Amino acid sequence: MKKIEAIIQPQKLDILRDALVNIGIKGMTVTEVMGFGRQKGHVETYRGADHVIIFLEKIKVEMIVADSMVEGVVSTIRTAVITGNVGDGKIFISPVDDIVRIRTGERGDVAI
Ligand SMILES: Nc1ncnc2c1ncn2[C@@H]1O[C@H](COP(=O)(O)OP(=O)(O)OP(=O)(O)O)[C@@H](O)[C@H]1O
Ligand SMILES: [Mg+2]
Repeated sequence: MKKIEAIIQPQKLDILRDALVNIGIKGMTVTEVMGFGRQKGHVETYRGADHVIIFLEKIKVEMIVADSMVEGVVSTIRTAVITGNVGDGKIFISPVDDIVRIRTGERGDVAI
């Protein structure tokens, strides 16, 4: 199992949710976050103001998926949210040891 965290532009959340539901995602967690990337929050680089860091509002979408779904989820996310401009976001993928479905006690892949 893997955790996929996607940091995206807020206005892309609805289209991303629909695209992920269409490929069979079982659940997701959404958080309003703030952050900056390589441009330090600036859409353009301002000479002399490069040291000023601005936090921009982003949305973080988290999903735990079976290993076999990772590449499909990643490509679905890119297709749904890409504009080609800076600030389109980033996807982080990390291993998950186990899942417990509280109601049933199921563990692992079947608990996703
Ligand atoms: N290395 C990182 N670690 C943690 N969060 C990051 C990292 N890079 C980006 N983020 C998060 O992702 C958001 C969007 O990043 P962004 O798309 O601007 O990345 P970038 O590396 O600057 O790429 P681009 O040049 O396409 O803008 C940031 O506001 C921040 O919340
Ligand atoms: Mg950026």
